[in-house]
Amino acid sequence: MAKTHTITLIPGDGIGPEVTDAVVRILESTGVQFNWERFAAGAGAYEKHREYIPKELYHSIERNRVALKGPVTTPVGGGFPSINVTLRKKFELYANFRPIKNLPGIETRYPNVDLLIIRENTEGLYVGLEHEVVPGVIESLKIMTEKACTRISKWAFAYAEKHGRKKIHAIHKANIMKMSDGLFLRCAREVAKHYPDIAYGEHIIDNTCMQLVMNPYQYDTLLLENLYGDIVSDLCAAFVGGLGLVPGANLGAEAAIFEAVHGSAPDIAGKDMANPTALLQSSILMLRHIGEEAAADRVQAALEKTYTEKKSLTRDVGGSAGTQAFADAVIQVLAEAK
Ligand code: NAI
Repeated sequence: MAKTHTITLIPGDGIGPEVTDAVVRILESTGVQFNWERFAAGAGAYEKHREYIPKELYHSIERNRVALKGPVTTPVGGGFPSINVTLRKKFELYANFRPIKNLPGIETRYPNVDLLIIRENTEGLYVGLEHEVVPGVIESLKIMTEKACTRISKWAFAYAEKHGRKKIHAIHKANIMKMSDGLFLRCAREVAKHYPDIAYGEHIIDNTCMQLVMNPYQYDTLLLENLYGDIVSDLCAAFVGGLGLVPGANLGAEAAIFEAVHGSAPDIAGKDMANPTALLQSSILMLRHIGEEAAADRVQAALEKTYTEKKSLTRDVGGSAGTQAFADAVIQVLAEAK
């Protein structure tokens, strides 16, 4: 009998529930058996449970060790801390993996991009340690540890070696943040010594942004601390058609949470306009993670065929279809391939 995979499902808010519904429908049409444990998080969860992250959600991830997550809105300039960052820190999901690759059928200024973003996911400025020193003076702490810098470097080089990647650039601002980003570089260099077959380079973050836009093909794998990784992810998403497309995985020793790079997109939420491809590609990473390689290949092929034949594409990539109509098209292609 086929295995049933119990997965924690966090639909999130904004466009989260729409793209999550679309992706769950596609995944269920593959024939793989899922048992979804569904939880609200963020403001919606607080209204119901007086907790931004319900305890049951933590327990569910602890048990299942795999979650599929839609975006959760984070209030700007106040309010509760980011649910997304909290979950990553809580489960030590230290490697944020974001592949940037064109899909066939979407014309962009940059064809054939194949870039990997590997972002440290647990510290840097995202520890969120801020306080008012005296009125008018705020201190925000950037925490960098040898442990975290080394473990993300090891993850990046091990991944590159396993998947035949040729080059890693550590991205930094160690000319200004000599100690914190200096530590990041020292750790990356130390790990790089053990991988003589992988070329290692270092670029300063501001130059990197310019270099990326001028010629993204000069890079293969980018290794970044938390904030730079976040910013560069959105920049690189533009190479392949935007945030509606780019997937992500938050990986640690104990658990993995699969989510798109994009946020809750309040400007298009509730309008059946969001592109579910980014979450769908995240779910393909999830299928591989749980050992469902064949299903992952089938969904990837169906997605690519849907784009190649320009069936029911969403507005962000030049179509006029809605979120659910796009999902229906992928489901139909999957069914035809059986
Ligand atoms: P965003 O990523 O939500 O949206 C940026 C732009 O991309 C908007 O124009 C939006 O319409 C478009 N977009 C995003 N996803 C799309 C999709 N699937 N299909 C078509 N267009 C799409 O970034 P924004 O507006 O800066 O953030 C909104 C909220 O999301 C904030 O509260 C932020 O903190 C949160 N956020 C949550 C994340 C997560 O849950 N992992 C990640 C990033 C942001």
